[in-house]
Amino acid sequence: MTYTSSTVRVPDVAAVPRHIAIIMDGNGRWATQRRLPRVAGHTRGVDAVRAAVEACARRGVEYLTLFAFSSENWRRPNDEVSFLMRLFVTALEREIGKLHANGIRLRVVGDLAMFDTRIQDLIRRAETKTARNTRLTLTIAANYGGRWDIMQATRKLVDQSVAAGRPVEVTEEAFAEHLAMAYAPEPDLFIRTGGEQRISNFLLWQLAYTEFYFTDTFWPDFDADALGHAIESYAERERRFGRTSAQLEPQSQNVDSLPC
Ligand code: IPE
Ligand code: IPE
Ligand code: MG
Repeated sequence: MTYTSSTVRVPDVAAVPRHIAIIMDGNGRWATQRRLPRVAGHTRGVDAVRAAVEACARRGVEYLTLFAFSSENWRRPNDEVSFLMRLFVTALEREIGKLHANGIRLRVVGDLAMFDTRIQDLIRRAETKTARNTRLTLTIAANYGGRWDIMQATRKLVDQSVAAGRPVEVTEEAFAEHLAMAYAPEPDLFIRTGGEQRISNFLLWQLAYTEFYFTDTFWPDFDADALGHAIESYAERERRFGRTSAQLEPQSQNVDSLPC
């Protein structure tokens, strides 16, 4: 599947979202409420990741994208940042075999040059191992920022122009080909747990026509049922992509009213 732009062509829509993107928020507050250190929330958050991956695979979702660490999360206390790095490594080492056995393809997107080389190697090995799996593509956004993504894609277009000795044509699709997630369709459903209602520099370009779902549930408590509620809410939405409701009515009605 290559990227298709919802603003260039109206995409096909089904009751089950093909692509779900989640901002997994509220780990710290989950822990603080229980008088635990914030990082205990991150540890429990890994269990919720496992549950979300399993539930998506079961429901036939093709792409699940999880925001694990934003380009702004480096602003957190050093202790918390190093804990998150270690947790990422241990979770990846522990889970990769199971992901592979379950037909899950893993991709990691973000500015990975900022991670130490051991983490970069681990990511590359995990991606290679699972590259041919087709059941579900799990993307982890790590040191990812929507602005970074748009900037790096722009830089690639500029580099292409320099190499060609003339400006390359800039179309939406030519641009989107250089985005970090060019291999996936745009998200159908965006979920943010933890009560905040903001994008926090996640997939800025790709969320143009995505349906949004916000819940107060903290990420460690977000289970298969909670995901089910989000998908039910999605199934009730009318995705118009700029058209009117009447235009979405079944084709047969329009055909019936045509003179024979
Ligand atoms: C999300 O939970 C996890 C990451 C950003 C890594 P938070 O750590 O942001 O939890 P809250 O929002 O402070 O409760
Ligand atoms: C967004 O959560 C990033 C991730 C979940 C990885 P934050 O907790 O960092 O977002 P803000 O700072 O509240 O906007
Ligand atoms: Mg937060």
